[in-house]
Amino acid sequence: MSQLLVTGGAGFIGSNFVHHVIANTDHEVIVLDKLTYAGNAASLAGLPEHRVRLVQGDIADAPLVDDLFSQVDSVVHYAAESHNDNSLSDPRPFLDTNIVGTYTLLEAARAHDVRFHHISTDEVYGDLELDDPERFTESTPYNPSSPYSSTKAGSDLLVRAWVRSFGVRATISNCSNNYGPYQHVEKFIPRQITNVLRGIRPKLYGTGENVRDWIHADDHSSAVLTILEKGTLGETYLIGADGEKDNKAVVELILRLSDLPTDAYDHVSDRPGHDLRYAIDSTKLRTELGWAPRYRDFEAGLAATIEWYRENESWWAPAKDGVEAFYASKGQ
Ligand code: NAD
Ligand code: TYD
Repeated sequence: MSQLLVTGGAGFIGSNFVHHVIANTDHEVIVLDKLTYAGNAASLAGLPEHRVRLVQGDIADAPLVDDLFSQVDSVVHYAAESHNDNSLSDPRPFLDTNIVGTYTLLEAARAHDVRFHHISTDEVYGDLELDDPERFTESTPYNPSSPYSSTKAGSDLLVRAWVRSFGVRATISNCSNNYGPYQHVEKFIPRQITNVLRGIRPKLYGTGENVRDWIHADDHSSAVLTILEKGTLGETYLIGADGEKDNKAVVELILRLSDLPTDAYDHVSDRPGHDLRYAIDSTKLRTELGWAPRYRDFEAGLAATIEWYRENESWWAPAKDGVEAFYASKGQ
């Protein structure tokens, strides 16, 4: 049994990870989360209180971080400002949390010699052409497009520097787009599912030809646990489940699974600088550490996710109107 600190554990992927850790290990977990608009204590409801403790606070609060690092063996760092569209409207919080927050954690990891795993995104690599036969690998050059992805890229580089300069015992993973329960309604899949549940037509940016490489959040969690247990210090691992789909196909599938005509959606203004395609080659993680995804059927995973949003309206309803008003103000 070990003591784990999970930053951002009240957010989408972090809360899925905490559920995964409680179900599959005997670790005890401290969650450090600022509970921004994206964090929700209700995402941790039902977990055993003697194994999970939520501390509300900022990862850039050095004294708080120092105190928490003195209590744990390992840290998994999910906390971030995570939404591209928000980063285009107001980049500042992305610098404060993704850059300064990560720096604050790295200094504490250095002081306490704590094992540190940094969660990142494939968006640090920029985008691919639709017909490019290559996918992202660990050696693809960094080329981020948005304030979100550039601050994530900066945070990755800080981790690499703290490994090399100060011997911090860290690993990094860059994962593709996640779907599953507890995802904020600002994001693509939950926005369209909850639109359909509310009788609003789904909204597709631009032509909808943009491709994302979908992975279930629980598969992301099992990959992170594998890296934490078996990963080589200083290494980066790409996480993906061969789930490439264009946005139009995803909207059409949500409509079909909801028994609606597959053309019952609207095209809206495109995102400025919209990345065309992401695709992950996760050979290194699979061959070196023996990881494999469990959710191989996207349609079944999406159907279960739709069902989760149908059954958990009280979890997402408070955020829905504000999110739609924000998008409407931008013609989206
Ligand atoms: P999210 O926005 O759902 O959750 C982020 C969490 O961090 C929230 O609970 C929020 O309250 C917390 N937080 C924000 N600022 C904080 C601060 N200063 N101090 C403490 N807590 C703070 O994000 P997510 O989609 O769960 O993403 C989690 C991580 O995974 C991020 O690092 C993101 O870059 C990465 N990632 C996300 C995806 C994806 O598809 N969503 C894919 C790959 C990687
Ligand atoms: P998003 O969930 O914001 O993730 P990311 O920007 O990290 O890939 O968006 C996924 C894709 O869906 C992206 O190509 C933008 C597109 N999109 C829409 O078409 N409509 C929407 O309402 C939203 C929120 C996103």
